[in-house]
Amino acid sequence: MRTGVTLVAVIETTRDDAERKQVTVLFADVSGSMDLAEGQDPEEWRKIMQRFFSILAEAVTKFEGTVDKFTGDGIMAVFGAPVAHEDHAQRACYAALQMLDDVADYAAELRRGPGLNFSTRIGINSGEVVAGAIGRGSDSEYTAIGHTVGLAQRMEALAEPGKAFVTEHTAELAAGFLDLDDLGEFEIKGASRPVRVFELAGVGQVRSRLDLARNRGFSRFVGRRDEMAELQRALARAADGDGRAVGIVAEPGVGKSRLCHEFSEHCRREGYEVFEAQAQAHGTSSPYLPVLQMLRSFFAIGDADPDQQVREKIAGRALLLDPELVGELPLLFEFLGVPDPDRSLPQLSAEARRRALTDLVCGIVNAPKRSRTLVLVVEDLHWIDPGSESMMATLLATIATTRTLLVVNYRPEYEPEWLDAPVYSSLPLAPLERTDTGELLRHLAGTDPSLDGLDEPIHERTQGNPFFIEELVRELAECGHLEGERGAYRLIRPIDDHGVPVTVQAVLAARIDRLTPEAKQLLQVASVVGKEVGAEALGLTAGLEQDQIDAVLRELVGAGFLYEVELYPRRILAFRHPLTREVAYGTQLAASRAATHAAAARAMIELEPDRHDELAALIAGHMEAGEELREAARWSARAAFWAGHRRPADALRLWQDVTRLAEQLEEDEERSALALSSRLQQLDFSWRLGMDPAEADALAAEAKEIADRSGDLRSLALLKLMTSARPGVSRRASEWIAASREAIALADEAGDVDLRIAIRAVGVYAQMCAGDLDAVDTVLDEIFELAGDDIEAGANIVITCPYSWALMARSIVLKERDRLEEADAVAGKALHIAATFGDPETESWARGNRATMMAERGMIEAGLSQAQRNYELTERLGDVFSRAVALTGLGLAQTMAGEHTAAIESLDLAEATYREAMNAGGEQEAWRGTIKVWALLGLGRDEEALAQAERMTAIAREREMYWQLPSALLALAQARRATCSDGVEEVLDEATQLCNRLGHLQTLRKIEAERGVATATS
Ligand SMILES: Nc1ncnc2c1ncn2[C@@H]1O[C@H](COP(=O)(O)OP(=O)(O)OP(=O)(O)O)[C@@H](O)[C@H]1O
Ligand SMILES: [Mg+2]
Repeated sequence: MRTGVTLVAVIETTRDDAERKQVTVLFADVSGSMDLAEGQDPEEWRKIMQRFFSILAEAVTKFEGTVDKFTGDGIMAVFGAPVAHEDHAQRACYAALQMLDDVADYAAELRRGPGLNFSTRIGINSGEVVAGAIGRGSDSEYTAIGHTVGLAQRMEALAEPGKAFVTEHTAELAAGFLDLDDLGEFEIKGASRPVRVFELAGVGQVRSRLDLARNRGFSRFVGRRDEMAELQRALARAADGDGRAVGIVAEPGVGKSRLCHEFSEHCRREGYEVFEAQAQAHGTSSPYLPVLQMLRSFFAIGDADPDQQVREKIAGRALLLDPELVGELPLLFEFLGVPDPDRSLPQLSAEARRRALTDLVCGIVNAPKRSRTLVLVVEDLHWIDPGSESMMATLLATIATTRTLLVVNYRPEYEPEWLDAPVYSSLPLAPLERTDTGELLRHLAGTDPSLDGLDEPIHERTQGNPFFIEELVRELAECGHLEGERGAYRLIRPIDDHGVPVTVQAVLAARIDRLTPEAKQLLQVASVVGKEVGAEALGLTAGLEQDQIDAVLRELVGAGFLYEVELYPRRILAFRHPLTREVAYGTQLAASRAATHAAAARAMIELEPDRHDELAALIAGHMEAGEELREAARWSARAAFWAGHRRPADALRLWQDVTRLAEQLEEDEERSALALSSRLQQLDFSWRLGMDPAEADALAAEAKEIADRSGDLRSLALLKLMTSARPGVSRRASEWIAASREAIALADEAGDVDLRIAIRAVGVYAQMCAGDLDAVDTVLDEIFELAGDDIEAGANIVITCPYSWALMARSIVLKERDRLEEADAVAGKALHIAATFGDPETESWARGNRATMMAERGMIEAGLSQAQRNYELTERLGDVFSRAVALTGLGLAQTMAGEHTAAIESLDLAEATYREAMNAGGEQEAWRGTIKVWALLGLGRDEEALAQAERMTAIAREREMYWQLPSALLALAQARRATCSDGVEEVLDEATQLCNRLGHLQTLRKIEAERGVATATS
């Protein structure tokens, strides 16, 4: 390793082009090299080592790995970086086998010669590394760094001489393709848990992913009816002597091989001869691999057949087809690796040989004596070597009048040169439809009810790619999200947080790496910006001009990474595949990703000046990911304000973000302001949504400390209100009112008119609950005097539109004073202002109030439908307080309409909803409960009604809720009468006295009516 590089220099030169990558790392060394070196002349030794190194390096290069460094007595190699290979684990293993073979040969030579005993040990591991340049200036080198590297080195140390050991991580990727002997688990230094280790034993049976799938047991073949029909039509034409070629095109894993397999099986069942061949990912350097494969299967050559038998098979079949081929037999023998020792081959140039071979293959396929239809399947043309490719092209040009069907498949990045050939048609394969995904999932995972609802997210994540679906299910099972066995799983943990399976990641990373560097970089930037990105924002974030962007986007769209969701007025692109986005995102270093996040935020700010409010949460998210915490806090606060009382749950969450972010900022005025206001705001939402009391207490204490320090009266006033004078405080009305007075006094001292109005509007609710109509009137008068006719006065501080709320309070007072018509008019005005102001919260309260008034005035049906509608609208707010109020109003309207069972349901739901969130019944508890008494009485459940009425009266009395107590007493009297209990008169008297004292004329009227009934029946 390089020494003398200072840390500073390293940091300086760690350029942004480093990436996180999934790779396989291989270490190989000479075992016991030090002992060997001792007895050896250094010059000789150097020669031996050099030879040894070149054997290792050649094996690495052959499988397109990178020699990362020479370690003194060996090498470190990386497969899958700088350019990703989806089969990086296989490649490393193949290279290891090659090394073991070649080193063994060389060792034998050395044993014979200098008499040296010499062998190699290899260690292999797969996983994530950070790969990129490290070092100083022009000395910097590309290297891979990470735990994955260390573990590979440990494998090498563990390996016995002449063996290659691989970890479970490599085994997972290479299983089937390679034979691996399980050696059990080992404790490895530096690894937190034991690692399962395998010895690499040789090449496995599996040639392709489809073989692997076959070994595991194919999943049920779904969909693909149209494609099968098209292939069958081509087959019918070929059988008629109208030779055809069909090219199936699709991205990795979409099912090209599976479709070919199903079609081949179909052909065989129909009695056709089918021959299959396949280009190999690591085979571009071995010429004619697929052609050889095809010919070997055509001549039925087995692996173990002796050479002579092979020659007989070839000659037999070839001559049967066309006696003219006799002259070509030596060439064919040689090509298939069984040269005839008796007949030597004339020397040919490579080009002449290629041409002769091509003629030969075409001659065999198009032999005049051939009467049977031939189906040739060649897979994975994207990996084909140039020799085979040109042979295919020639073949295609000659099959028009033969009984040949050629089926090929390839990925979209490949474009065959014969696209326009008349015999050729391409068959693009789309991903699975939703219903097919569902069917496949049911086959893979089963039908347990816990899996319901999984179709959609899995289809969304995999976009109907069957390979991704299979891998995802396998991985979910391995990671314990699914329990049971294949085809019969149960979901035991939600899947939303699950990452991309390594197998899928390998495929996607390899695709991304095939892009041009510009396109790849832009894709990475896009992955940071979002699932959907505007072209302009993308350009700005990436720091590119639009014309530069356009060319690169064309490449990304052309290669199927992005698609255009919208062209006008703005060009918006989206990721075709969510998993691609995750992989593109995951490959970037944290530091450069952060910078891109911040740039994305700034681009949004610049490009969308009219949508800052709407985008604030998104901008804040990017700012935070970009480590610009101050900006993140500011934008979160803005987003929280914007969500406001329309989306209280979002607002609360955003204020929590502001508190958390402010915590991380440097101490200054802005930080204090954010820290304080975010806490006050959270408290403001706590009475609407509920909050753990300990949490609320902590927030209040922290806010108090900050406010005291700054002596900020405004905040102290708000804090007083939020802690002691807001709805939901568990106090007696008198204490509540006292706190409300203190808050008002503080606001008056602070002097801000808006604040004075805002705090009065909320504070007056205490007096209202206490039933003190005069006091309410006084505060309302103050509000209207301060506000004048400005309906915006005091807005958005505690409630959105205090003006409309004050009007509503006034209408309630008027109603209690039994001035119903005036009350209704004011209530209508309150509702109108709340609605036009855009304050859905106050609008909900006002509409509920209006509904009750309608019912009170005898318009029961209209009141009921208004209350129903109000409840439905309020539901959308997601605010517990308002929801409970709306349900209570609905319950009242329902009882008045005689729908007592429905009323009880509404009231119980209101009670449960409120209590669950707030851990208490709140100030409306006795009112809700009193309405329920009426509903119970309506159903004849008199005993229950009586018990309930006793309880509600006690609660209202205990908490001094004199707005409710007269009604509760009235209900108690009714319940006593219904159950023929004593004390009817007594409670009616108490209620009358209260109503007289407080001026509750409307309730008084009801009490008098009840007294009339009571007297008449006694
Ligand atoms: N229609 C289908 N129904 C059920 N399973 C399918 C279907 N198509 C493909 N599969 C399964 O999905 C996996 C991937 O399919 P396949 O190997 O055919 O993809 P491919 O397009 O050939 O990918 P590559 O380009 O990587 O070769 C296989 O396990 C296969 O059995
Ligand atoms: Mg395939």
